[in-house]
Amino acid sequence: PEFNEPFRPQYHFTPPAMWMNDPNGMVYHDGEYHLFYQHYPDSTVWGPMHWGHAVSEDLVHWEHLPVAIEPDEHGWIFSGSAVFDADNTSGLATEDNPPLVAIYTYHDPVGAEAKRDDFQTQGIAYSTDRGRNWLKYEGNPVLKNPGIRDFRDPKVSWVDDKWIMSLAVKDRISFYSSPNLIDWTHESDFNPSWAAYGGVWECPDLFPLTTAGGEEKWVLFVSINPGGPNGGSATQYFIGDFDGKQFHVESREVKWLDYGADNYAGVTWSNVPEEDGRRLFIGWMSNWTYANIVPTENWRSANTVPRNLELVETNGDYLVASRPVKELDMLRNDTHKAEGSGFSLDHELVEILLTPNQEKFKVEIGNEKGERVVLEKNGDQLVFDRSQSGITDFHEAFSKPHTAPLNGLKIKDVRIYLDRSSVEVFINDGELVMTEVIFPTEHYNRVSLSGFSADSQVHYLNSIW
Ligand code: FRU
Repeated sequence: PEFNEPFRPQYHFTPPAMWMNDPNGMVYHDGEYHLFYQHYPDSTVWGPMHWGHAVSEDLVHWEHLPVAIEPDEHGWIFSGSAVFDADNTSGLATEDNPPLVAIYTYHDPVGAEAKRDDFQTQGIAYSTDRGRNWLKYEGNPVLKNPGIRDFRDPKVSWVDDKWIMSLAVKDRISFYSSPNLIDWTHESDFNPSWAAYGGVWECPDLFPLTTAGGEEKWVLFVSINPGGPNGGSATQYFIGDFDGKQFHVESREVKWLDYGADNYAGVTWSNVPEEDGRRLFIGWMSNWTYANIVPTENWRSANTVPRNLELVETNGDYLVASRPVKELDMLRNDTHKAEGSGFSLDHELVEILLTPNQEKFKVEIGNEKGERVVLEKNGDQLVFDRSQSGITDFHEAFSKPHTAPLNGLKIKDVRIYLDRSSVEVFINDGELVMTEVIFPTEHYNRVSLSGFSADSQVHYLNSIW
């Protein structure tokens, strides 16, 4: 495929055409990373949801596959997850060839239109041919609606001796358990009073991470829309313990995965081999505030670069760092020293590595037309300004500067990934992240720096297409 239109990301995942939102059903199986996504194959705006599908052997190069799961009599196919049912607990296949099972939300548009409150239920589908063909389970839905409008986005994983589903239920996360992915029992709810509730809770994820000291902790992701720290959609997370039934939060403080405006509904891959050991994440690189009206033509939205999540200890507390996966390094084709206070870029796809050496710093990346983004450290905060970045007038909120509190974080390094319509900023290898989309009318080809040491580096990157 060409995929060379204006704004078309060159190393971020995009659908071949038409609308995309949340990443869904990420599962590693038999040498492939599967990526499904909320997809409306008939339009570039949100509508009747399907699961689009792609696979990759390296998380970087993607092969697009046909739509995997289509709406049926139970409704549209909203977000959810997929697991490898290695022991055929579901009985949907055989022990010799166990199935991949997708667990997703049915959104019944008729019930929604009629303003009923039971139109979201959970269904399953399975594949016995490496995810190429999916069959719906005949007994769908497997989890009926108890009378709550927002009842969706099941994220399932195997915990000790059973399947655990985290489900977004209006303003809480409900946990369900099952021996077989078909019969589900409600176990507990999580909704501490001090959490962020600016909007409805969506797209949870629950998984363990091990600290550098070898201690296991559980992390719970909850995306909310609106109510993000810089407006609109964002992902908050909690650190604590999961005892097989209930999540116990440890630090009573809202933490945000990303302080940029464009990382939403992200969740992690299941079934990543133990010898790999990473917790791999990808997010939807947009924001519901303007997702439907960004100035792209035959497709809408991209994903973030894949990230490896790690638990980092800071001042007696923990945070989840999002580190760009090492596989991205294979895109590097040419490395330059970036000396002095400014340099030009001969290539539109770049990774820039900077080392601050002063209290304040400032990076400007832009073009001859004066279009630019500005990243500035001032006092105890980081500010990302895209008000002059190119096309911004499709929504008034787009030009607002975004700030991230540093809370005393000492900045050791700044890594910036620039693609045709995005900028991702990773501080200290992902201890603080700002993911932002932009729509420059000409490629950025100039970087100006102040506050950095002379040993900055620029890598030119290859396109994946
Ligand atoms: C999050 C979300 C999910 C829902 C899906 C619908 O962006 O609203 O809660 O399942 O998108 O496309």
